[in-house]
Amino acid sequence: MNQDKSTRYRIGKNESPVYVSEALQDFSSHWRHHLGTHNKRNLFVLLDENVELAFPDIISDLFDDRFHNVHIKKLKGGEQLKNLVVATEIWDELSALNADRSWVIVSIGGGTLSDLAGFTASAYKRGIPCVFVPTSLMAMIDASVGGKNALNQGSLKNQIGTYYFPQFVFVFPRFLKSLPEEEYRSGYAELIKHALLHVNNNLWNTLQNRDMSELPDASLLASAIRVKMKIVQTDPFENNKRLFLNFGHSFGHAIESYFIDHNKPVKHGEAVASGMQFALYMSVKKSLIASALAEKLSSMLESIYPFPQNLEMNELINYMRHDKKVVHGKIRIILFKDFGRFKIDFATEEELLVAFSEFIAKKRA
Ligand SMILES: NC(=O)c1ccc[n+]([C@@H]2O[C@H](COP(=O)([O-])OP(=O)(O)OC[C@H]3O[C@@H](n4cnc5c(N)ncnc54)[C@H](O)[C@@H]3O)[C@@H](O)[C@H]2O)c1
Repeated sequence: MNQDKSTRYRIGKNESPVYVSEALQDFSSHWRHHLGTHNKRNLFVLLDENVELAFPDIISDLFDDRFHNVHIKKLKGGEQLKNLVVATEIWDELSALNADRSWVIVSIGGGTLSDLAGFTASAYKRGIPCVFVPTSLMAMIDASVGGKNALNQGSLKNQIGTYYFPQFVFVFPRFLKSLPEEEYRSGYAELIKHALLHVNNNLWNTLQNRDMSELPDASLLASAIRVKMKIVQTDPFENNKRLFLNFGHSFGHAIESYFIDHNKPVKHGEAVASGMQFALYMSVKKSLIASALAEKLSSMLESIYPFPQNLEMNELINYMRHDKKVVHGKIRIILFKDFGRFKIDFATEEELLVAFSEFIAKKRA
């Protein structure tokens, strides 16, 4: 416990804080603080198999024999987990264990596990506590922060979900060491998005001046988490400002679905990065920002996530039409005004088609 203070952060003043710490033993003190002594609780742990393979010692240190009863369910992280069949399996196992409301569901894994943990905990006996230990960059800075969870309904992503806050989130940056490169790149796109959402350009400048291949440390992770947490605290139920977090997502989700249907799936973050490029172009078109600034931001994105070739906009529009972001036939888009300042806007399909062909022509020029 004698580590430098700069390696530890608490984000969020009230309940459900996020702790970022490079000291593993901090997990125990946060647990005691939020959930009481270890031997009082029974745990149902959802553990990502890849994380267990990479860090068996860390996992056994987290859940040592001080806990009353630790039931571990090992899972292969991925979208295939986010459905009611897997959720029901978990509820059945909890019932078979006679789990009451003193039990705690803990997830150790990426965003698919924290979504599953949050959802199952929110509904079992009308709510039992949960704790998230995110292990992917996406989960650390995004999925485990903000109290939203969701399961997929068939091919429709994130259709079924609740708002439910974990008792606390414990971010341990060392987990990133085993994260596959493509997963890291995907999470990094959300880090860039958080930098755009930050009211000044400090976080953006930090990203500009660092080598992307160097893994984010506790301080950088805490800054990114703070950006999301601040927005969530002003608008927890997504009536207004929280929608800004969807920057790049209307178009990004369409790209994601497009490539799934063309049997060439791309990572969520890559698709969102392309969505952000198009949203920046739309922001210039709507005179919200100067083209020089949009160019600068866009070229940073393009240098890491080249915009996909040969996209068929008519097909993309089709996917956008089925998105949750359609209101009265118009597609909701989030536009960029400045760092931390966005506009919630709507566009017709015709407008999007015209803008997209101009955008592509400009890219080819
Ligand atoms: N609830 C929210 O607010 C919110 C926000 C953003 C994303 N999400 C959800 O999060 C999910 C995406 O999260 P994700 O990218 O973490 O996906 P994921 O959970 O599928 O993890 C991605 C892959 O990385 C592996 N992995 C994770 N951590 C690892 C580690 N430390 N070492 C080695 N391998 C590791 C997993 O096994 C998996 O194969 C999506 O389902 C998305 O909808 C939710």
